[in-house]
Amino acid sequence: MPDSWTRTAAICLLSIGMFQAALADDVTSAAELAFNNHCRECHMIDRGDNRVGPSLCGIIGRKAGSEAGFGNYSAAVKDSGIVWDAANIDQWIKNPNGFLPGNNMNPFPGVDDAAQRRLIIAYLSSATCGKPIN
Ligand code: HEC
Repeated sequence: MPDSWTRTAAICLLSIGMFQAALADDVTSAAELAFNNHCRECHMIDRGDNRVGPSLCGIIGRKAGSEAGFGNYSAAVKDSGIVWDAANIDQWIKNPNGFLPGNNMNPFPGVDDAAQRRLIIAYLSSATCGKPIN
């Protein structure tokens, strides 16, 4: 029926407009979603909020093993001499046991999908640290 075609076309055009408007937001939320799916089980981004893993507040540019108050660092991480950047975090979350054998980031299988890793690193680079918890 012509009427329903018109309606369908109108809905399509409306959706495209909404899609374009939401695109910038979607990139951000895709990054947050990737972090939530793969990391949030153990890591918070809020300053000082250590859980199973250390807070990842300001992780880009942070010395490995240096989060105050986190008590479960392995020697592998603590003595690595690494300063975290996008490139070494990519290697770390791709294959933690290959990158720093003997680490405590378990059980974590690594993230195979390079696009997912890029999103996670984008999130780590851009996320604010929230409020101090104490
Ligand atoms: C099962 C829990 C768990 C998961 C899931 C997990 N981590 Fe970790 N993470 C840890 C633990 C525990 C450590 C400390 C490891 C060590 O010292 O050997 C750690 C350490 C780190 C460090 C080093 C922090 C520092 O202060 O040097 C980074 C960076 C990191 N994780 C990023 C991630 C990212 C990004 C993800 C998601 C892709 C992730 N982790 C998933 C538990 C986890």
